[in-house]
Amino acid sequence: MSKIYIQGIGHYVPAKILSNQDLEQMVDTSDEWITTRTGIKKRHVVEKETCSDLAYQASLKALEDAGLKATDLTHIVLATFTPDTYVPNGASHLQKKLGCAPTPCFDINAACTGFLYALEVGRGLCLTNPKAKVLVVAAEALTSRVNFTDRSTCVLFGDAGGAVILSTEPGKAEVKNILIQADGSLGDLLTIKGGGSAYPPKLGEPIDEKYFVEMQGREVFKYAVRSMADICLELLAKENLSSKDIDLFIPHQANIRIIEALTKKLNLDVDKVFINVQNYGNTSAASIPLALSEAFEQKKIKKGDKVLLVAFGGGFTWGASLLQF
Ligand code: ACO
Repeated sequence: MSKIYIQGIGHYVPAKILSNQDLEQMVDTSDEWITTRTGIKKRHVVEKETCSDLAYQASLKALEDAGLKATDLTHIVLATFTPDTYVPNGASHLQKKLGCAPTPCFDINAACTGFLYALEVGRGLCLTNPKAKVLVVAAEALTSRVNFTDRSTCVLFGDAGGAVILSTEPGKAEVKNILIQADGSLGDLLTIKGGGSAYPPKLGEPIDEKYFVEMQGREVFKYAVRSMADICLELLAKENLSSKDIDLFIPHQANIRIIEALTKKLNLDVDKVFINVQNYGNTSAASIPLALSEAFEQKKIKKGDKVLLVAFGGGFTWGASLLQF
């Protein structure tokens, strides 16, 4: 089987910052509560930008890093659940901005695990098309679907984009393995119900809470820790590795307490865990490529390093990937 490589990495966040102090003015919350329960201090939020704007900026950086032009791309896979529109898909808006028609482009929705699902699809495209250059990008204008009167969810999320370019040509990191899993029976614990065919919008009816993120936080927390720990161990076993062999661990950045519990369960050295949730909050699908890109930029990854990625999100979905730099 051909080897698959990441050729370039990039990320982008919108300029506007929403701090915990700003949120104190909006809902009954406090910097102290948010910091101790989540580790989040601030998040970047869109004003006029859309999902495809975030994806576009991140993609330009990944293309530049790879030394490629948009017209070199053979496929565009966008992971998001907050596309600019449902039709056309979010990736079509991105492709228009990149100016690379007729490159095929489509969306993947696996909530916070979206990037790893898209990576798996990108890997498959490279395996069946040895000349493929696949843009795997994740972007969320997530605050467009956050209820800013619900203090239990509105403090958690932020907006961002992150991208990688995949191909079979040797590049900065080899994608050694990817595992993705799901359990649809738990979907109601983290959901946006309104707007789909189960709860279609009706002309003249006001939108209500069900059009925004609704979550049973404690349940999500429990499943997130358990599922991410299990899938990391499964992936490590497949690669004949133990957690001690990992040089950098990049978990989904949702909540510092989830990350700490996971680090403990996996018996990982805390110095090997990359954390940026304090600056961005939970950016859903964008969280992993944003963290990977920042870790690389901050020189936290050296040549030869083994980097383990893991994510968990609505669906429920979860996944892990091992990169060899
Ligand atoms: N400010 C102040 N008080 C709050 C806030 C807030 N922003 N939000 C909730 N509270 C209150 C609640 O009303 C409750 O008060 P009560 O005891 O008087 O009823 C109290 O705080 C405790 O609420 P819990 O929901 O039980 O708090 P918990 O300790 O579980 O923390 C949290 C909540 C942070 C959401 C946690 O459950 C969590 O992190 N869950 C994971 C969710 C997550 O990150 N999901 C993202 C998508 S999935 C993923 O990415 C992994």
